[in-house]
Amino acid sequence: MPSMKVLHRLETPSPRNPTARYPRVSGRPSHIAAIKETMSEDPSSSAAPAASAPPQVVATIATLGRHEGQSVTLRGWLYNLRESGKLLFPIFRDGTGTIQGVAHIKSVSPAVFEALKGLTQESSVIVTGRVRADKRAPGGFELDVEDLQVVQRVLESDPYPITLKDHGVDFLMEHRHLWIRSPRQSAILRIRAEIMRAAAEYFDSNGFIRTDPPILTPAACEGTSTLFPVDYFGDPAYLTQSGQLYIEATALALGKVYSFGPTFRAEKSKTRRHLTEFWMIEPEVAFCDLNGLLELAENFLSHIVQCVLKNRASELQVIGRDRAKLEAICPPFPRITYDDAVSLLNAAHKTGQLEAPFEYGNDFGSPDETWLSSQFDRPVMVHRYPANVKAFYMEPDPINPNLALCVDVLAPEGYGEIIGGSQRVSSYELLNSRIEEHHLPKEAFEWYLDLRRYGSVPHSGFGLGIERAVAWICGLDHVRETIPFARTLHRIYP
Ligand code: 4AD
Ligand code: MG
Repeated sequence: MPSMKVLHRLETPSPRNPTARYPRVSGRPSHIAAIKETMSEDPSSSAAPAASAPPQVVATIATLGRHEGQSVTLRGWLYNLRESGKLLFPIFRDGTGTIQGVAHIKSVSPAVFEALKGLTQESSVIVTGRVRADKRAPGGFELDVEDLQVVQRVLESDPYPITLKDHGVDFLMEHRHLWIRSPRQSAILRIRAEIMRAAAEYFDSNGFIRTDPPILTPAACEGTSTLFPVDYFGDPAYLTQSGQLYIEATALALGKVYSFGPTFRAEKSKTRRHLTEFWMIEPEVAFCDLNGLLELAENFLSHIVQCVLKNRASELQVIGRDRAKLEAICPPFPRITYDDAVSLLNAAHKTGQLEAPFEYGNDFGSPDETWLSSQFDRPVMVHRYPANVKAFYMEPDPINPNLALCVDVLAPEGYGEIIGGSQRVSSYELLNSRIEEHHLPKEAFEWYLDLRRYGSVPHSGFGLGIERAVAWICGLDHVRETIPFARTLHRIYP
């Protein structure tokens, strides 16, 4: 078996040459010639089949349905192995799914049988086999193993640390670089990617221009208590908390814009909803008021959920997500005012559903949001919070200036806030006095005030936290599993 050292000298397998120069265990050298003439499923990487040798198809587990009855080659890892005398039942994974193989001592060469027998978990392999439909198999197919190459055999003396038994979450987070290989975790990451794709697609196909704000910024956007300071060549700077202020500028330049990138909050809280580094997608629209923003938010969220239902059905099944809950997500979403929400909370307290009474004027705590968002089968849009619990840039409601023209969208099933947004202050005088009241450094905001000096217009925007959206759509109870490598108060490894 190759050691790691040897592996480094091996040629990397390419779609053109999937087996490269890995040491072979097969007793059938003719197969090398056949596989070199690979026909890939991926049209961008197909090699011309030779006239003489039968073409060998390199497939992925997710698309095996196209190859029923054919012999295909899969490249992946050994997820599990069950042995019963003359029969071996390996389960392979390749990043797109898992499939059970069957190898009988008489159906494969002795070398292949020996290599597979006792093969260690997560050893990397190139396996060839015939695809057979089997109604009892989870993906509908099994693989009758014909040939196998071991790319790297995991040593018995240093086995893969994550076994199929239960591990504690701390152990798993410490081994996050390996944990993401598990079927459940990789399904979540695939759903995350679809959420991000669908979110960008919604804006791209509705006339929005993506404009990327800076990550290094001179001032706070969302309150000074959660800033991550950076030494910027001797001057203080901060990692961005939100792209908003900058995309207000690009919205006044381009009309409808969005940003999509990482954002940072030095959150000292250890909750299931908070990360210190998370991804936010933020639209910003010139000449849009709060009503227009609510309509945008419900259409945008519905598009994302419908895309996940359509394009990630098997991943939803792997993680056991109730599809019916997601199928209900379509416009219109319920809209309630902050005042309505407070009445609901206090009624819930009276009937013993909530421990503490809610004091008008406060922001909602986690238990309040959890309760509120369990009352609806769609995201609920709570608008017009008291201005003094919200950010400095929010436009006051002309009917009651103590209220802000803002919205928090709370996801159903108790997931709480996933979107925060507002109409922005458009008057120079008001914005100037807000900056002073909030003790923000005026010099750092001069450019932002310019947006109100030169052609100010009503404009609005919101931010969707990707990890909170993933937690809700996947039905996870903690955001740490929604991102490949979570950054939290006590974790910056791996
Ligand atoms: O409500 P927030 O703080 O709003 C803003 O940052 C606005 N500037 C956005 C805008 O109007 N363009 O954050 C927006 C969303 C939240 O609703 C939540 O989903 C997510 O970002 N979020 C977090 N996600 C994970 N961990 C944290 N610490 C988060 N803080 C906010
Ligand atoms: Mg918020």
